[in-house]
Amino acid sequence: MNSFFITFEGIEGSGKSTVASLIAKRFEDAGYTSFLTREPGGTRLSEDIRKILLDPERTDMCEKTELLLYLASRAQLVTEVIRPALREGKIVLCDRYFDATMAYQGWARGIGEELISRLNQVTVGNVIPDITFLLDLSVEEGFRRGPKHREKIGTRVRDRLERETVEFHEKVREGYLRIADRERERVIIIDASKELDSVLSAILRIIIDRFDLII
Ligand code: TMP
Repeated sequence: MNSFFITFEGIEGSGKSTVASLIAKRFEDAGYTSFLTREPGGTRLSEDIRKILLDPERTDMCEKTELLLYLASRAQLVTEVIRPALREGKIVLCDRYFDATMAYQGWARGIGEELISRLNQVTVGNVIPDITFLLDLSVEEGFRRGPKHREKIGTRVRDRLERETVEFHEKVREGYLRIADRERERVIIIDASKELDSVLSAILRIIIDRFDLII
């Protein structure tokens, strides 16, 4: 069987993690060998890096360190997990991947899309997703979706004014939409403001069409 690599992206509160795990379950139930991993994380080393990256007390972290840690986490995940799994013909689902670096570091942090594009290429080589679902919704709606997300965003950018936080996430969304505009074949925008069931069925329909699978 052919291997497939599917990634899920979106701003905080877009529901991508829930959606990714439900899609993974759907593959399992249909008898496909698939697995779900996440970024940053997914290997022992990458999970250690994740702890550093998301630690609210690391207010000393400069933007370049942040960028390089995300890339380091990804390099390890690709080498240790994703590339071998694809070679074995598995379906790999990943909750965030290199588009997150483009949207967060490249566009929202302002490091620059061209540099990120080159670094992404160096980091992943030919391990490019076959399809990426961008779960898009407004930043306000993302923030409204439960105290967990609000608290999480609050901790990540603790020293900033609430207004700046919203602006940053607006830029992240903009960064994602720019990628979708450039890569229309790979990146599919899904309206994440809809009910979970309709988000899921929209994604499943596309997977079935694109990969000719029965799930
Ligand atoms: P998450 O597990 O909730 O998606 O948290 C990961 C956080 O890291 C999220 O705020 C997005 C951010 N991130 C980046 O800034 N750059 C990246 O390359 C990745 C993968 C995630």
